[in-house]
Amino acid sequence: MSLSEHAEPLTPSRKRSKWRDHDEEDTQSLAQPNVQHKRRVRPKRSPETSASPAPAAAQFPTSTKPSHSTYVPPRTHHPPIIPSRSVYSYERLNQIEEGSYGVVFRARDKQTGDIVALKKFKLDEEKNGFPITALREINALMSCRHENVVGVREVVVGDTLTQVFVVMDFIEHDLKSLLTLMPLPFLQSEVKTLMLQLLSAVKHCHSNWILHRDLKTSNLLMNNRGIIKVADFGLARRYGDPVGVGGMTQLVVTLWYRAPEILLGAETYSTAVDMWSVGCIFAELLLKEPLFQAKGELELISMIFKLLGPPTNSSWSGYSTLPLAKTITLPSPQPPQFRHKFQYLTTAGLDLMMSLLTYDPERRISAEEALQHPYFSESPLPKHPDLFGSFPSAAAGEKKRKIFDSPSAPVRAADYKLLTEFDIP
Ligand SMILES: Nc1ncnc2c1ncn2[C@@H]1O[C@H](COP(=O)(O)OP(=O)(O)OP(=O)(O)O)[C@@H](O)[C@H]1O
Ligand SMILES: [Mg+2]
Repeated sequence: MSLSEHAEPLTPSRKRSKWRDHDEEDTQSLAQPNVQHKRRVRPKRSPETSASPAPAAAQFPTSTKPSHSTYVPPRTHHPPIIPSRSVYSYERLNQIEEGSYGVVFRARDKQTGDIVALKKFKLDEEKNGFPITALREINALMSCRHENVVGVREVVVGDTLTQVFVVMDFIEHDLKSLLTLMPLPFLQSEVKTLMLQLLSAVKHCHSNWILHRDLKTSNLLMNNRGIIKVADFGLARRYGDPVGVGGMTQLVVTLWYRAPEILLGAETYSTAVDMWSVGCIFAELLLKEPLFQAKGELELISMIFKLLGPPTNSSWSGYSTLPLAKTITLPSPQPPQFRHKFQYLTTAGLDLMMSLLTYDPERRISAEEALQHPYFSESPLPKHPDLFGSFPSAAAGEKKRKIFDSPSAPVRAADYKLLTEFDIP
């Protein structure tokens, strides 16, 4: 569809892009009048308020009582509130993926021609209003703007209250699909570039008080210019004091990437949980397959014990105080198996891996420290992103997606409990 066909961009045509649900045939309801999205009306600004206004108190004649406190700035000083645009501003191209919490589509902005990704939140079964997870996702994406975080453009709405979409920049690949399709693993120089970008995004989120809580390769997008973008902030939350009533939920982080303190029931945790996931991703980039492919939590704990050696008082002093520690019988002491698992990694690389996959969250390396790690300054140096090869994009329909078997993000059952926490928004 050419852009010139759109004479009235603010009342977009619905003839060619059907967003109501996944069924392309459902034209009947599309023909119904749209009660929510008539014409987009810009808030009117009177000439005297749009020019630099006089101080609030001076705007009212002394004889007339103002309608609000004279100490409060006039309404026009607040950022203008603009209604969300309609999803019909976009032409739907293809469905990219149906995840646990949303369906992601590729679409074209009818006004600019830009190719974007639209994530439709699954709200159909919501009985308690607009879910906090969706608000968190939008809020976290907006407060973590960074070159290596997927860019969010706007939120658009469909015909009914269950149709809310977040519009993001379209990114050609996710690392999970890419690793499955690539015949060979990434080179060391490429792994370094990807890790530096990931660490830089994580450092940025943490310094903005946001925990991602679901870092994994399927949530890392990569464009054809070798740039990584962290996506899927559906489990993100604000951290810091005060932690809400009842502590923090343990239902976070997809199993294979979940830190041992969460597995063992810690009620408070922090940025270190994301750093454990970064360690699992580092290993996956090197091995071309996930590090801990466990079927359940117990199997995962035993796989971790095997790679790191079981925890001791000196490696994790807080271990015995964790709620689930008493329910676990520790195996006899064994040395760590890192060297055996990563045979081709340099000593510096191995040191970074062990610093990320460290039991004690207090001693686990931070994103800021990891960025300075000698692994990144030794040969081979990180490859310039422009020199990365490009791949056919499965998301753009250039290549069939390979179905991979990996656990999904945890159910967000604790959403409503989390409302009591000091939290986003
Ligand atoms: N901006 C984007 N550009 C291109 N593809 C994207 C974009 N955002 C998401 N995707 C694709 O859609 C998939 C699912 O997106 P996302 O992780 O945000 O949804 P989800 O429902 O939370 O998924 P899951 O529960 O499986 O993690 C991603 O793995 C990626 O393949
Ligand atoms: Mg995801």
